[in-house]
Amino acid sequence: MKKDSVLKVVTQKLPSNDAMRLFHGRGGRTPGWEQVNIEVYPPVLWVIIYQAIDETELQAMLNALLPDCDKLRIKSIYIQRRYETGNPVQVFYGNDDYLDRDFQVEEARLNYWVNLGRNQNTGLFLDMCEGRRWLRENAKGKNVLNLFSYTCSLGISAAEGDARSVVNIDMAKGAVKRGQQNLALNDVPCVSNTFIAQDIFKMIKKLTQKGPFDILVADPPSFQSKAFDVRKDYEKLLLKLAPALADDAMLMLCLNSPALDTQFIHDLVARVFENYKFIQRLPNPEVLADVNEEASLKVMLYQLNN
Ligand SMILES: C[S@@+](CC[C@H](N)C(=O)[O-])C[C@H]1O[C@@H](n2cnc3c(N)ncnc32)[C@H](O)[C@@H]1O
Repeated sequence: MKKDSVLKVVTQKLPSNDAMRLFHGRGGRTPGWEQVNIEVYPPVLWVIIYQAIDETELQAMLNALLPDCDKLRIKSIYIQRRYETGNPVQVFYGNDDYLDRDFQVEEARLNYWVNLGRNQNTGLFLDMCEGRRWLRENAKGKNVLNLFSYTCSLGISAAEGDARSVVNIDMAKGAVKRGQQNLALNDVPCVSNTFIAQDIFKMIKKLTQKGPFDILVADPPSFQSKAFDVRKDYEKLLLKLAPALADDAMLMLCLNSPALDTQFIHDLVARVFENYKFIQRLPNPEVLADVNEEASLKVMLYQLNN
C-alpha cells in the first residue's frame, strides 16, 4: 500500500483526546507494513517496528505528516524498534519530554498512567478497548473478579460501570500498584476495589471465599515462563475457580495468541462447565481487522446457567 493510504488511516482519527491504536499493520492487511503498528498516546504518536524492514515508505509517511502535527495535536513522534536489543526508541519528531516518564492518557473519559520507553508494555493495552467498554456497560451491581489484571484497566472500567465490587489480581507488584494509582485518577462509583499482588494459583482458596463472583474476567498471557501457559493452565484455572462463581456468572475469557483460535476457548469452557451459553465474541475495534480473524485478539463471553 502506498504511504498516502496509510497516512490517511493514521490521521483520520486525529486529533484525538483518547489514546488508541491508529494503524495495525500486524493484521497483515497492508502489504509491506506488516511489521508496523502506530498508536497515539496524546500528544505522542508511538510507532512500533517489530522486525527490521526497509523504512523508506514509513519515514516518508511520517515526514508527510509533520506539517500537520500542530493541527493533529501531535507534539512528538517516537519510534520503538522491537527487533533491536533493549527496544531502543528514536525521537523522530519533537522532543523527549514524554519519553521514559509517566504521563496520563484518557480513554472513554477514564484516565490511566502510561510510560513510553524501552518497555514493550506501555501500561495500557489499547487493543482491549472493547473489553473495557463491555465492562463499563455491563458491570452494574455485579461482583467482578479481574484476573491477570496488569494495571487494572478492565477492573477500573467495571468500577466505572458501577460494579458492586471489583477484585483485581496480578503477580506483578508494580502493575498492581499502577492499578491503584490508576484508580486514584478516576472518580468511579464503585467503592469496593481490591488489589492483590500475588500468583493467582496461590490465591484460589482465598478468592473463592471472596465470591461468588458475577463476572469473571481472565486475560492471561499466552505463555509466561513459570507463571502461565494457556495450553496447560487455562483449563486448570477455570476448574479451580468454578466454585467461586455465581450460578449465572458471566465469563469474559480473553486469548491473545495467533496460534490458538476461538474453538480452543469453546472446547475449554465445554470441558469445565456443564451448563452455560455462549453469548458472543466481542467484535474487535475496526482498526484491528486481520487477514485471519481467528489469529487476532479474542474476547469471548459466556454465561453460566446452573
Ligand atoms: C496480558 S497481561 C493482562 C492485561 C490486562 N488484562 C489489561 O487489559 O491491561 C497478562 C498479565 O498476567 C500476569 N500473570 C501471568 N501469570 C500470572 C499468574 N500465574 N498469576 C497472576 N498474574 C499472572 C502478568 O503479570 C501480566 O500482567
